[in-house]
Amino acid sequence: MTTYKRLPVTFVRGEGVWLWDSQGTRYLDAVSGIAVCGLGHAHPGVQQALCEQAGTLIHTSNLYGIAHQEALADDLTRLSGMDRVFFCNSGAEANEAAIKIARLYGHHKGIENPVVVVTENSFHGRTLATLSATGNRKVQAGFEPLVQGFVRIPYGDTETLQTVARTTHSVVAVLVEPLQGEGGIKIPPTDYLDQVRRICDHHGWLMMLDEIQTGMGRTGRMFAFQHSNSVPDVMTLAKGLGNGVPIGACVARGEAATTLAPGNHGSTFGGNPLACRAALAVIDAIERQGLVAHAGSLGERLLNGFRQALADTPGVVEIRGRGLMLGIELERPCTELVGRALQAGLLINVTADCVVRLLPPLVTDQAQADSLVAQLSELIKAFLEQ
Ligand SMILES: Cc1ncc(COP(=O)(O)O)c(C=O)c1O
Repeated sequence: MTTYKRLPVTFVRGEGVWLWDSQGTRYLDAVSGIAVCGLGHAHPGVQQALCEQAGTLIHTSNLYGIAHQEALADDLTRLSGMDRVFFCNSGAEANEAAIKIARLYGHHKGIENPVVVVTENSFHGRTLATLSATGNRKVQAGFEPLVQGFVRIPYGDTETLQTVARTTHSVVAVLVEPLQGEGGIKIPPTDYLDQVRRICDHHGWLMMLDEIQTGMGRTGRMFAFQHSNSVPDVMTLAKGLGNGVPIGACVARGEAATTLAPGNHGSTFGGNPLACRAALAVIDAIERQGLVAHAGSLGERLLNGFRQALADTPGVVEIRGRGLMLGIELERPCTELVGRALQAGLLINVTADCVVRLLPPLVTDQAQADSLVAQLSELIKAFLEQ
């Protein structure tokens, strides 16, 4: 179907940060399949795990025990300090699970019409519930009636959250991104998550973080909430978890971890041996290769590099980021830059019309980062000068 406006290129092979198209031209990938391929392309650890698992057992279903699923849940709970995991196949599904947990949690407390607080400018997925939670009219238009049970407030604004607490008594949870990705790499005030945590605790609400884009080391911590002093009740993951093998996870702790009971939720493919084996290999590589700390320091290098290269460039509004999630906001729409960069052998993305978004693989080295800064800064300057 015509669901995507595709660029005129087809990649046939990858290695690390590089991709090759069908003509043999090489590209530096600063998109990573939209924050998915943190280990880059054709990572040997993932390749070996997948090949071995494909030759052993791909799928059995959740009717039976799945050892790799249990091992992956152990890894995710160890890394997050949380208790239990539900596995699915995408980010939207992970958020669906979170929303269902919130509603059931509310019903258990006797709240008939539970409300989840969400934010403006957010992105949570394309299923009916997650597009209803999403704070972008473009994503919702034409798909009404939307799913009810969401109240929307500005991102980063805890005063309005307090007001909602006073005026809406059926709130059961808050669902936010630790920093907004699709919304244009928006970084909230430093104490935002701690304030949200405090308000949630005060009212008995679940603090639910959508870490689908920020998770798995991307921001310089394994999970972006680890930049704060707070741990959420629910966290959703997908994208970087499987390095391209579809897998999603809804991680929970405390009461939220035991809310769903047999029969409440499920997925045929969710957490199958193949996907879990891939995710185990991803976590192993991230830890062994020290990629979380590397993402942090390389992110600083990129941020400083761009700030220097584009200093005093008229038309650059702001350069911001955390780890390897960076945004260069320009004063006018710049989608055109994506095609120009492609011609120059560079894969970038533009989101929220005016923000060049960079999500390079966690395995990017310093020389590759420096060449990204040099090449892209020239493209941006030329674009802004015309
Ligand atoms: C923060 C966030 N949540 C949810 C999603 C949806 O994930 P998926 O496309 O895997 O359903 C995305 C995808 O871009 C995302 O960035």
